[in-house]
Amino acid sequence: MPQQTLLLGQTLTFDDDPFTHGPSAARHDGAGGVLVAGGRIAAAGPGPDLRRAHPGARVVDYGDALLLAGFVDAHVHYPQTAIIASWGKRLIDWLNAYTFPEEARFEDPGYAARIAARYLDLTASHGTTTMCSYCTIHPASVDALFAQAQARGQRVVAGKTCMNRNAPDGLRDTARSAYDDSKALLEKWHGVDRLSYAITPRFSPTSTPEQLSALGALWSEHPDCLMQTHLSEQTDEIAWVRTLHPEARDYLDTYEAHGLLGARGLYGHAIHLEPRERARLAEVGAALIHCPTSNTFIGSGLFDMAARMAEGQRVGLATDTGGGSSFSMLRTMAAAYEIGQLTGAALHPAQLLWLATAGSARTLHMGERIGNLAPGMEADITVLDLASTPAIAQRAERADDLWEAVFPTIMMGDDRAVRATWIGGRLAHQRDASASCG
Ligand code: GUN
Ligand code: ZN
Repeated sequence: MPQQTLLLGQTLTFDDDPFTHGPSAARHDGAGGVLVAGGRIAAAGPGPDLRRAHPGARVVDYGDALLLAGFVDAHVHYPQTAIIASWGKRLIDWLNAYTFPEEARFEDPGYAARIAARYLDLTASHGTTTMCSYCTIHPASVDALFAQAQARGQRVVAGKTCMNRNAPDGLRDTARSAYDDSKALLEKWHGVDRLSYAITPRFSPTSTPEQLSALGALWSEHPDCLMQTHLSEQTDEIAWVRTLHPEARDYLDTYEAHGLLGARGLYGHAIHLEPRERARLAEVGAALIHCPTSNTFIGSGLFDMAARMAEGQRVGLATDTGGGSSFSMLRTMAAAYEIGQLTGAALHPAQLLWLATAGSARTLHMGERIGNLAPGMEADITVLDLASTPAIAQRAERADDLWEAVFPTIMMGDDRAVRATWIGGRLAHQRDASASCG
């Protein structure tokens, strides 16, 4: 029998989606426990009961810290780690001034490996256990992230970013090489350990119709893969798409016409949608990935969460590192809350935490494996200190229930609130290295 580890603390799990079922879809246990064995959750329930039932388990007692599923970041660009928080540009200028020069550096596999390791260290320290990442056009940038994730036993989705126009020399592939390289990477990594491949046309301004068609064909040959791209992020971008793809009915049609619309499609941002686009996205069950710190940081606009949920869209939450201004899913939840306020809906803490865990896992079609603490699920667990700074502690002290206790950490918390991160049943990050917890 594998070694069993019993994590004790407050626990938060979800029986359902709090957007449709309200906050009571969440289950809170003030003295809960999660039993971990062989990289999976063997049991979850009242801590004292689990302790009695499993006297041989190693116990890690987190006191009144909150145990919840590891955060799932549904849209990131790991190669933009070193240029996060770059000043003063909106989307297209930001890509040209900061992003493309940095992505060109990934021609060097050594550099790619260093940034991949740095990125996974940073995200673990922020409580993020799974991400869906763009890489660069270089196949070695995909190998670098997958190799690092594999060594850490981490569930990661990633793909080679494809671009064959409107990108500088050295950062363009072709329709043919995008297909061939993506296929080779997919065959090498998809389904290996906890890794999966996402076919990744960057966005329609940087792909010709031929490239979009080639990637649509690849997706139809591998329908179990995810496909990720960007959609309707800024109004200037949408106007540019109209001139580049005059035959298309709208931005979404530039993908749809080439076989790049489907239930396993992830559409980043999706802020400024036409009625036809909204109807088609909901009809096929595609995922819209909300990236709130990015949307304010590069001035993209306000995603209307309540309206999208009401029309039945599948929505995930993401940092969009490094267009987003933080690696923290706590900071990302705070920004989602603020954008919710600006669009007329105060998102409940249960909804924010669900989006950052089970909701995002569902958009990746991984809701059965990650994003919740339930028997049989993979043991990706984040331990939150709900009093991580004096400012948060003095507010949380007044709390009458879990939601009031956790909301100050959502709004004001960062990596200081992440006491520990467990990935695949292994302690991947511990805030207080000197403390004896595991
Ligand atoms: N649209 C196309 N590429 C990108 C990118 O790297 N970041 C963001 N935020 N939007 C994009
Ligand atoms: Zn992006």
